[in-house]
Amino acid sequence: MKTLKYYFGRAKKEKWAIGQFNFSDWSQVRGILEAAKVLKSPVILGTSEGESKFVGLQEAVAMRNVLRKKYNLPIFLNLDHGKSFEYVKEAIDAGYDMVHFDGSKLSLEENIKMSKKIKNLIGWKGVVMEGEVGRIGTDASKMYTEKFEIKEEDLTQVKDAELYVKQAGVDVLAVSVGTFHGMDVTGVSPNLRMDRLREIKSKIELPLVLHGGSGTPENDIKEAIKLGICKININTETRLAFSNTLRKTLGVISLSAGGEIVPYKYLPEAIHAVQAVVEKNIKLFGSEGKA
Ligand code: G3H
Ligand code: ZN
Repeated sequence: MKTLKYYFGRAKKEKWAIGQFNFSDWSQVRGILEAAKVLKSPVILGTSEGESKFVGLQEAVAMRNVLRKKYNLPIFLNLDHGKSFEYVKEAIDAGYDMVHFDGSKLSLEENIKMSKKIKNLIGWKGVVMEGEVGRIGTDASKMYTEKFEIKEEDLTQVKDAELYVKQAGVDVLAVSVGTFHGMDVTGVSPNLRMDRLREIKSKIELPLVLHGGSGTPENDIKEAIKLGICKININTETRLAFSNTLRKTLGVISLSAGGEIVPYKYLPEAIHAVQAVVEKNIKLFGSEGKA
């Protein structure tokens, strides 16, 4: 199997993006991988700190190992939004392919210092490191009822990104260019700041990462990929599909009224719903047939 770095290099050169789809349960993984299998796409399974604490870092790695063989696909595992050195180290030690250090709450100097420390820890292990400059706000478990406004000061500042990349030595860079975690009630996020992305792209060679992919207008996604976005993170869309389908399936609560209580009978519909969302995104990102 080719390495994740290989796929990043190819995505950058050929202008497509790898999808990162987060999970906190085996059923979601199944939906994600069925989609990757149908479309012959490389895929990154993401776990935030919270998700990975629920699943277990070692359990996630064991699952990836078994499924890589079974599906015969380039399946990678990323620690998403790792906030502390200690937890990022645990993920690396457990065998994650990639770690995202989210130093967005730190000063730029502190972010650089911590990122360097993690990069040194990785050494020659081949783990891909994602750094972040700028703030991608809010929460991937929310539907916002009012229009969400991105603050100018939260966007990635080009000078900061340049300095960070030069000093921290990360492999890929997450940028804040107008998306946010979660979705607003219309289901469509505000338009991306292509002007800022273009500026970043003109100064930075690294593959760029777009967080908060859920609900982003399709044309914006396509344009962002042309401007250097090589990985797109999706969580809220798959969480919604999974949870809403389960709610519908489990709607009849009482056993006597025919309510289903057998998980392997009520879960497949939710798995298919996740698969449909992931297939839609893989096609949009252009990673179909790239495995
Ligand atoms: O890191 C994860 C993501 O950026 C997911 O964001 O839930 O808005 O798709 P999303
Ligand atoms: Zn994110």
